[in-house]
Amino acid sequence: MSKIIIPAKPEDVTWTDDQWKAIMAKGRDILVAAAAGSGKTAVLVERIIQKILSEEQPIDVDQLLVVTFTNASAAEMRHRIGEALEKAINEHPHSRHLKKQLTLLNKASISTLHSFCLEVIRRYYYLIDIDPGFRIADDTEVQLIRDEVIDALFEDEYGRADNESFFNLVDSFTNDRSDEALQTIVQSIYDFARANPQPEAYLQSIISMYDVSAVEKIEDLAFVESLLFDIELQLEAAKEMIVRALEMTKLPEGPAPRAETYLADLQLIELLMKAKQDSWEALYQALLTLSFPTAKRLKKGEYDEELTAKAQKLRDNAKKKIQTLRAELFSRKPESFLRDMSEMHSLIVTLVKLVVEFSKRFEKVKIEKGLVDYADLEHYCLEILTAEVSSSGEFIPSDAALSYRSQFKEVFVDEYQDVNMVQESILKLVAKEDEEAGNLFMVGDVKQSIVRP
Ligand SMILES: Nc1ncnc2c1ncn2[C@@H]1O[C@H](COP(=O)(O)OP(=O)(O)OP(=O)(O)O)[C@@H](O)[C@H]1O
Ligand SMILES: [Mg+2]
Repeated sequence: MSKIIIPAKPEDVTWTDDQWKAIMAKGRDILVAAAAGSGKTAVLVERIIQKILSEEQPIDVDQLLVVTFTNASAAEMRHRIGEALEKAINEHPHSRHLKKQLTLLNKASISTLHSFCLEVIRRYYYLIDIDPGFRIADDTEVQLIRDEVIDALFEDEYGRADNESFFNLVDSFTNDRSDEALQTIVQSIYDFARANPQPEAYLQSIISMYDVSAVEKIEDLAFVESLLFDIELQLEAAKEMIVRALEMTKLPEGPAPRAETYLADLQLIELLMKAKQDSWEALYQALLTLSFPTAKRLKKGEYDEELTAKAQKLRDNAKKKIQTLRAELFSRKPESFLRDMSEMHSLIVTLVKLVVEFSKRFEKVKIEKGLVDYADLEHYCLEILTAEVSSSGEFIPSDAALSYRSQFKEVFVDEYQDVNMVQESILKLVAKEDEEAGNLFMVGDVKQSIVRP
């Protein structure tokens, strides 16, 4: 790993030590995750300013890519950089580097990701199949078109002969009066797919997730591996709690008779862990018959009440963890679980077909009207920047991407928690490749993340 070298913090600044580290750390990709309002944007702006003012490696503002979430924050950022430059010019009135920066500032790439995509498309539109006279549709206009497209699609589906699979889907996903719920689902899946660098592959992956035709045991399902990992963590956590309770029984005035109970608990949890190693079925059976022993009675006044209560609380929490596991994942027999998945599969196939058809029709209308929406901007941009996608799903940069890579010495991203996977792929294509020698600096708040496709 490359070393992170941090210069000493000047005395006259109010930055906390952590902020200062984030401002000055060098030589690799950095993601700063911190709470709302804790000064992430301020740190990002200060880092940009430090890069420009740096005496050892001064950077020109047009060698930066700064991605913000709104146009207003881009303008604000440009303004703050301008102010810092003016201040520096006052201090060093003869610096040609600083004066040059002021003139470059206006055309610096400080913008929303969509504006950056637009810039890429305007510069390289001839590399992809797009009419350069396109117009960006606003959200209301897009929603109107989407509504029309989906209404027409559903009408056609209702009108088709022998369309039982569609009617099954309608029955499963809608209430008696309206199929709006299903229309919403189709559009949500469409949006989720579009927030993915490879929407078609994403849709296929939904189908194969429910494809249990070749699956004999639950363990063969693709997503079960991560479930098992989570189960393992839950069991470990429960075990740890009981171990701590057991330790309390050994303390002076600890509830010694309870040691027997806690040892029995530990044995039960170890049995569950062993069953989990064997199979889902084994764990299901073990949980089915699981019953924790009644806690040993304690004579009143003989043991420390606080210790007793603490140990009891730990045990209660451990039991709760395991009971939740049972209720959430093992309430159904493994066979019926697989049967449900298999019934869902044909519905999902029909649902995905609808999404694909919606996507095609929506696309066609947009092309006819010469419109693009924001997701289109991202996808066209990604297409321009990608030479090919490797078999392992890696995006290989095109010459256009390489040219941005050499232009941008540093890439900054604010509000990283709201960056979707298409946007992330775009950023990775224009940032330096090697994470260890990376030039990508991102700040964000995971907890603040708004759920959006
Ligand atoms: N070390 C500091 N000393 C003084 N003021 C600070 C410090 N760090 C941040 N601030 C101030 O705190 C306020 C919030 O900072 P900022 O907008 O950068 O936070 P943020 O983490 O980006 O917030 P959000 O989660 O809303 O994006 C700003 O007015 C900023 O100048
Ligand atoms: Mg901020």
